[in-house]
Amino acid sequence: MQQQGKRQTPGRNVVVVGTQWGDEGKGKVVDWLTDHAQGVVRFQGGHNAGHTLVINGVKTALQLIPSGIMREGVACYIGNGVVVDPTHLLSEIERLEAIGVEVRSRLFVSESCPLIMPFHVAVDKAREALRETSGAGKIGTTGKGIGPAYEDKVARRALRVQDLKHPQRFAAKLRDLLALHNEALTGYLQAEALEFDPIFEHAMKVAEQLKPMLADVGYLLHCAHRDGANLLFEGAQGTLLDIDHGTYPYVTSSNCVAGNAAAGAGVGPDLLHYVLGITKAYTTRVGSGPFPTELPMDEPGTVGHHLSTVGQERGVVTGRPRRCGWLDAALLKRSMIINGVSGLCITKLDVLDGLDEIKVCIGYELNGQRIDILPLDADDIIACKPIYASFPGWTETTAGVTEWDALPENARRYLETVQQHIGAPIAMVSTGADRDHTILMRHPYAA
Ligand code: GDP
Ligand code: IMO
Ligand code: MG
Repeated sequence: MQQQGKRQTPGRNVVVVGTQWGDEGKGKVVDWLTDHAQGVVRFQGGHNAGHTLVINGVKTALQLIPSGIMREGVACYIGNGVVVDPTHLLSEIERLEAIGVEVRSRLFVSESCPLIMPFHVAVDKAREALRETSGAGKIGTTGKGIGPAYEDKVARRALRVQDLKHPQRFAAKLRDLLALHNEALTGYLQAEALEFDPIFEHAMKVAEQLKPMLADVGYLLHCAHRDGANLLFEGAQGTLLDIDHGTYPYVTSSNCVAGNAAAGAGVGPDLLHYVLGITKAYTTRVGSGPFPTELPMDEPGTVGHHLSTVGQERGVVTGRPRRCGWLDAALLKRSMIINGVSGLCITKLDVLDGLDEIKVCIGYELNGQRIDILPLDADDIIACKPIYASFPGWTETTAGVTEWDALPENARRYLETVQQHIGAPIAMVSTGADRDHTILMRHPYAA
């Protein structure tokens, strides 16, 4: 029997994913879309993510808490696929509370999330240092312990959020895990060992604060959907950083693609109705790894310098400068296939304002052959020479434009051609960091 007061039609759900190497503007778009959603879910990654929201000129950077938190009354879920650093989570909650955002009553953290502990951070940093000195070359991780925490999950020995409720169980698992990591730290990683007592005592203190927010997230999502709530699945990182589909080994340690939204949130794939791919109008990458359309950025007056400075391309989490280059439609073609993108949101169009010529990579030359999709092998990607299509730029400003027809003709032509090359329709265009600087063509929540 239907409960009184509940809507009878199940909700409609949207998955937001990055289609490049992260930092495409996912946070801004998730915040914008959340006026149509009652719940926002993170399903992978951890606080290696940095999602920026600008609301009426005020900037907020989120790392672990879903970008729906800035909309009053929206429920926010951290799904089982996310690795949770409990100390970081608490500090992010407190940071939001300090600016007047109510968090604890509407944040639900899956009991199944693996925990990131201080030794994961130590191992992450020590490995990077060793890779550098040994000449193997750094991955360029964010140093947040993401990789080592996922390794423990897959090795079936991780501490999980649910262990925070059971001090004795927590202590026993922690003792074993710490011994294992200390062996690696003091052995081949040539770093300091960590002590049990401070880690345990601190974790138990944080646990007291987090316990009220622990939940069976998959079941809550199922109920919310059944009762008519629209859900938004918020991807972190980007498709080319995906552990399976990215530019391995220069990737993160989770599946960032849309298909993982179901497994990482604890729902069935039938709940993923629309996949919105977020694509920056050019390309950026933080950390090491191949990047066919990369441009030199140091020289003022060059396109690389323009993208870096006008686009303010600096990492939210680490403050590192992001590498910049032209849009790569051949890379995006692969991204569309892997994610099953229903529609695109092109972001940061305004950063291209004032360029005389705009280029888009439409394929590569590899070993004397022409290919039109990014190859899978990192060495092949390094050997790829981009083939570019060229477009005339525009002198008018697109910053803050909210109507398609108000865009300069050359900007419209550029977007239309890009859409044809990528093979997915443009649903939205973002013309500025602020929530309202958005052009809507087809609403992802419209049935
Ligand atoms: P995310 O990780 O995908 O959420 O992206 P980040 O927040 O790391 O990086 C995107 C940056 O671009 C942030 O500083 C945003 O405020 C900013 N941004 C987002 N959309 C636009 C846009 O359309 N134009 C401009 N100029 N900035 C944007
Ligand atoms: P958002 O969600 C851009 C990159 C790191 C490094 C690689 C591995 O803001 O788009 P990790 O710490 O995950 O082991 O680092 O992945 N990386 C990101 N790059 N945006 C992100 O997130 C990223 N999260 C991780 O720079 O190259
Ligand atoms: Mg980011």
